Amino acid sequence: MRETRSMSPTPLRRATLPADLGTILEPGEAEEPILTPAVRRAMIDWMAEIEARDALAQAGLKPRLSALLEGPPGCGKTTLAHHIAARRGIPMLAVGAENLLGMYLGESEGKVAKLFGALEQSRSEVLLFLDEIDAIGGKRSNATDPGGSVSARNSMLTVLLRRVEQCRTIMIAATNRPDTLDEALWRRFGLQITVDLPGDDERYAILKRYAAPFRFDEDLLDALTDLTEGAAPSLLRQLMEGLKRDMILGRTPAGIDAADAVAAVTSAIRPHPDYEPPRLWTAGLPDGFPWPPSRETSREPGR
Ligand SMILES: Nc1ncnc2c1ncn2[C@@H]1O[C@H](COP(=O)(O)OP(=O)(O)OP(=O)(O)O)[C@@H](O)[C@H]1O
Ligand SMILES: [Mg+2]
Repeated sequence: MRETRSMSPTPLRRATLPADLGTILEPGEAEEPILTPAVRRAMIDWMAEIEARDALAQAGLKPRLSALLEGPPGCGKTTLAHHIAARRGIPMLAVGAENLLGMYLGESEGKVAKLFGALEQSRSEVLLFLDEIDAIGGKRSNATDPGGSVSARNSMLTVLLRRVEQCRTIMIAATNRPDTLDEALWRRFGLQITVDLPGDDERYAILKRYAAPFRFDEDLLDALTDLTEGAAPSLLRQLMEGLKRDMILGRTPAGIDAADAVAAVTSAIRPHPDYEPPRLWTAGLPDGFPWPPSRETSREPGR
């Protein structure tokens, strides 16, 4: 699959999928996430299982068609879902809570039914991605309910449970609040995969990917890998894009130290206060690393 950096959505264009259901992301727009070996293995095994539909059927088995991705924000859940769709050569329909939650009694159930009904009727294969599923699939409540909102939520969940169970489309849901998810909904997914913070090897590969087309000194990349322990890939991307932006815009002229260039970026982007900041944000980069990095003449594959 050709890798591109763009994730720009395109409007729904299949006549059978009404435009208010979500956003279609085309396979050619996907990028491959850098995953821990365990998550990569789980993804490859799942893809192989879906491909082996006929062989499984001979033994009375069916491939699992749904997976729940859980993990902290910015670790690649959406990117992975889109990549899986792209590996199958199909578009992904990304559906958020805003596409399913309605203001009026019964409206949300209607939207869920419309979504799954449209997918059943769609002539072309599409991967359904239910983002932030906790917003619609939170635990059922027995609370007394004078305004009716709790029972409305419960009945929407009942519809969702049934539709998820019956769904014959490849479906991936994502959440970064797995503890709030309804147990019955959780169980409806054939696989539950944790897309967690990257380890040392993955951080190095992510920093290197987003360094391109600049060739960062290996010792500098090693130091950044070490000092960004605990950072999500999205933050690593912001860090490297910030450094590149500053170089291109001449904000970090030759002669300044790498530590100053990094400090200029980390002073303006930081992890959410709920997360312990990586040491790069608290201790900074030590002095002495060469700066600026050279620019590659021909672009290397990004990993
Ligand atoms: N594992 C990864 N490898 C490379 N880049 C990544 C990875 N994870 C995230 N990114 C980059 O970070 C950005 C955000 O990633 P993504 O939206 O997939 O995260 P998410 O887990 O879905 O976050 P959220 O929980 O906030 O929805 C993307 O632009 C993507 O390029
Ligand atoms: Mg996401």
